[in-house]
Amino acid sequence: MASSSTWLALGIALVALYAARCVADDRLTKSKYKDVVFVGPTGTFGTVIGFFQLLLGFRDFIQEGFEQHYGKLFAIPTLFQMTFVVSGHDLIEDVRKASDDQLSLYGSIKEGMQTDYTMEPHILENPYHFKFVHLALTSNLGGRFPELREEVITAFSELVPPTDSWTSFPAWLTGKHVVLRVINRLFVGPSLCKNAAYNEINDIYSDALVKTALIMGFTPGPLKPIVSKLLDSYIPKTLRRAMEHIGPLIEERLDQERMFGKDWPGKSNDLLTWLMEKAPESEKSLKAITIRLLATVFAAYRPASMALTQALFDLATFSSYIQELRDEIEPIVKEEGITKESINKMYKLDSFIKESLRLRAGGKSSMPRKVLKDFTFSDGTTVLAGNTIIAPGYAIHHDARHYPNPNEFDGLRFARLREEQDDPVRYQIISVGPTFMMFGNGRHACPGRFLVSALLKTMIVHVLMTYDIKLEQDGVRPVDKWYTFTPAPNQTAGLMFRKRAK
Ligand code: HEM
Repeated sequence: MASSSTWLALGIALVALYAARCVADDRLTKSKYKDVVFVGPTGTFGTVIGFFQLLLGFRDFIQEGFEQHYGKLFAIPTLFQMTFVVSGHDLIEDVRKASDDQLSLYGSIKEGMQTDYTMEPHILENPYHFKFVHLALTSNLGGRFPELREEVITAFSELVPPTDSWTSFPAWLTGKHVVLRVINRLFVGPSLCKNAAYNEINDIYSDALVKTALIMGFTPGPLKPIVSKLLDSYIPKTLRRAMEHIGPLIEERLDQERMFGKDWPGKSNDLLTWLMEKAPESEKSLKAITIRLLATVFAAYRPASMALTQALFDLATFSSYIQELRDEIEPIVKEEGITKESINKMYKLDSFIKESLRLRAGGKSSMPRKVLKDFTFSDGTTVLAGNTIIAPGYAIHHDARHYPNPNEFDGLRFARLREEQDDPVRYQIISVGPTFMMFGNGRHACPGRFLVSALLKTMIVHVLMTYDIKLEQDGVRPVDKWYTFTPAPNQTAGLMFRKRAK
């Protein structure tokens, strides 16, 4: 795999090349958007400069636009197109209500992840694997909860064995491994989910996808096939390694079916089963199944493991909540154990985790939509086809209009709102809307959020019941790392655990 500096140099060269093309691009012409406010430099070279200011974190045009033009549509430079940002209830509603052939989530994923080059061409023309997440998992989460609980507890206890004295463990690595195991338990079953080599392949594949997508995204259209070939064969190689694990598992399942019948009592009902049985006939090859599996793991595991790591950092940082959370959790667990129903009753815990998500997860850009047909908002402004529309998730989550003292971690913020308004639904982690956008909004809102909520709650319950936890350096929360629009938890810091003392 090429080194980071080679990737960067290649990226910069391609950007320079492409800047020339931008001159002629109609979509970037400011005069086409008379009613739209522009934030940051404009014009061909201004856009390039603005793009680098944004990329390198010198300016935050989304936040600037949000503060200055709240409720209006504004445009920011993102080099090859304009990115239009919507804020305020009405414009976000317009996006939510738009049809898929006007504003497309898959169009924006296709572009952002360069799926024609990183996965397979046309994968998003029929993203049935996404639908299977809902059908195989979300709608059956109650049935699969015991596996989730078992995997959370076994994986965490193996990675962080309870000790009498304080011991430091790498927070990010631990979070990643636990989440990968749980997700793969639900996607491919109990044997493969524990296979360290397979989990590592998932991790490497996800990493390679992100890096390759970044370079391919910088590459002008006509050069993409060439650059894609130059970018070595890392993704195909990793895919082949994954197929070496998935192939025998498929064979094993087919053998069982031959022996015990199609619907034998011990038959798995995970994502792999759905892909084997319900994918279109032309997509039932080992390669097609493996690509869909890895693509779904990618969507699921990276954001979920970041969220878990951040929640653990917050638990250690704001340790005054520990006793209050234990007071809520313990009687429920004593009475009912850790079940899907019992964790639903833990609304202070829900609030604590949601506050962690609000402050740290998601990113500056939410609800991305590629404009497939010129789109006119309810205020009369029009965005031309070919551009992208986003909502400013991070700015919304840090807006005092919605969240008093928005930069303060208030672990019981949502629990209080729930009590004051006697509304058990609206303030839960899984509830989406124009003021809580980390799972998107509308018909495409993340179907994995039910799993995320169950996983994070189970994890934190297990930690609170089994361990004491603290920061490595008292009072110093490890600093997040930003990747342009997306925050990630600190990847090198540790967290201290010991067997619970009282
Ligand atoms: C903290 C963790 C997660 C975050 C922050 C997150 C966030 C998102 C967001 C923002 C979207 C786009 C929604 C929109 O634009 O309206 C999305 C879509 C999606 N997510 Fe998640 N996600 C997470 C975890 C998961 C997990 C665990 C799974 C699978 C088990 C998953 C599966 C999906 C799928 C399949 C879609 C596409 C939905 C569609 O086709 O309409 N996500 N997610």
